[in-house]
Amino acid sequence: WTATRDKSCKLPMPKGSMGFPIIGETCHWFFQGAGFHASRRQKYGNVFKTHLLGRPLIRVTGAEHVRKVLMGEHSLVTVDWPQSTSTLLGPNSLANSIGDIHRKRRKIFAKVFSHEALESYLPKIQQVIQETLRVWSSNPDPINVYRESQRLSFHMAVRVLLGFRVSEEEMHCLFHTFQDFVENVFSLPIDLPFSGYRKGIRARDSLQKSIEKAIREKPLHTQGKDYTDALDVLLESAKENNTELTMQELKESTIELIFAAFATTASASTSLIMQLLRHPAVLEKLREELRSCGLLHDGCLCQGELRLDSIISLKYLDCVIKEVLRLFAPVSGGYRIATQTFELDGVQVPKGWSVMYSIRDTHDTSAVFKDVEAFDPDRFSPERSEDREGRFHYLPFGGGVRSCLGKQLATLFLKLLAVELAGGSRFELATRTFPRLISVPVVHPTDGLRVKFFGLD
Ligand code: HEM
Repeated sequence: WTATRDKSCKLPMPKGSMGFPIIGETCHWFFQGAGFHASRRQKYGNVFKTHLLGRPLIRVTGAEHVRKVLMGEHSLVTVDWPQSTSTLLGPNSLANSIGDIHRKRRKIFAKVFSHEALESYLPKIQQVIQETLRVWSSNPDPINVYRESQRLSFHMAVRVLLGFRVSEEEMHCLFHTFQDFVENVFSLPIDLPFSGYRKGIRARDSLQKSIEKAIREKPLHTQGKDYTDALDVLLESAKENNTELTMQELKESTIELIFAAFATTASASTSLIMQLLRHPAVLEKLREELRSCGLLHDGCLCQGELRLDSIISLKYLDCVIKEVLRLFAPVSGGYRIATQTFELDGVQVPKGWSVMYSIRDTHDTSAVFKDVEAFDPDRFSPERSEDREGRFHYLPFGGGVRSCLGKQLATLFLKLLAVELAGGSRFELATRTFPRLISVPVVHPTDGLRVKFFGLD
């Protein structure tokens, strides 16, 4: 709370308020959600100071400023998650690695998300989505889309990515423990009985125990390129890089992957469904594209095997997913720490201060997007490609050396979901109006989005 300016630097400190001792402005942030940053940005400008989750912080918005932070990894800034996140993810996580160790770990992980690996996950992802939509459609009541999308992305991560064979009951328990973990990953680092932090630690310990059991019981297929899941690829990739992953590293990596996929993908899936409901013309155009590629016949999706290349070739689908991620970026930004004092927008970012670059606010305030608040997938069409103006105006997956490793997987998942929704489902909003959105910890509707699914007649 007492972090100070760098007196050797002539530049002024960013404007802003540090709130109350210890808690700073954390409570304002929790209660105001997205409005917290917007109101301060309007008052203090694109680079302002505040105090969140137990530490002083400079919040940065705008493509040029964000570019400087993201490209300054190692020279100006390094990763710096809030203490709760750091402790709960563990020392072996990518989130907590820096420099050469980070580079080495990323190299091992890269193979998990290669084209070849994605091709091998595709049928299983499709199967999990189809099963889920069947369950949603057979329910006589409306579905809470956000909650059920969390379950869907959790199933995808546990069954498809990690290849764990757990019973329904175990899956249910794991899911609830994981929810406890996620809800407390961003909490004040106060380790007292009943504190969120303590709850998060308990959830992490319990998850690690279950994951260790699942890993030990899991048949491993690490020969050849016939991957069955991401854990197999990870182990093979580690071997190729002359590294043997310890059980602790495997457990932390597993939790990190599920964590990275869970809330983000659930948020994006919910936003996708909401936008398809809001914009029937977009849904119809998607159907038209599926028809013209021979994937949709007489109102039914072709049951033949869907290939990764056919999904990639669907240009309008690509625009729709990009636009969902622009307007409803699940991750609001990323945390760094200044390793030296530097200038940003005419003010100083003193060495030792935390820096949070903003994704959602950067999208919302970017001048390159025409009618920035409108849902307009065609802005990403080859004729318009508004994102071509500059790399850092559009960054749902971050940027630089720490950009999202699961970007292609997340995009594939969302595309497969959209294909199934457009080709194989009928669904309508079960409430009179669309719900409001809140943005902490990820963007989601206040009521979860109540939708009645019917399946196809
Ligand atoms: C990092 C967004 C899905 C794995 C990130 C970052 C963003 C992001 C913004 C960078 C954070 C920073 O700069 O500090 C998203 C979004 C997703 C998504 C919007 C879904 C729509 C996934 C999935 C996985 C994944 C499905 C893997 C299963 C990771 C990992 C990192 C990361 C491992 C850390 C990379 C590093 O530190 O080097 N993600 N993500 N993400 N993401 Fe994703």
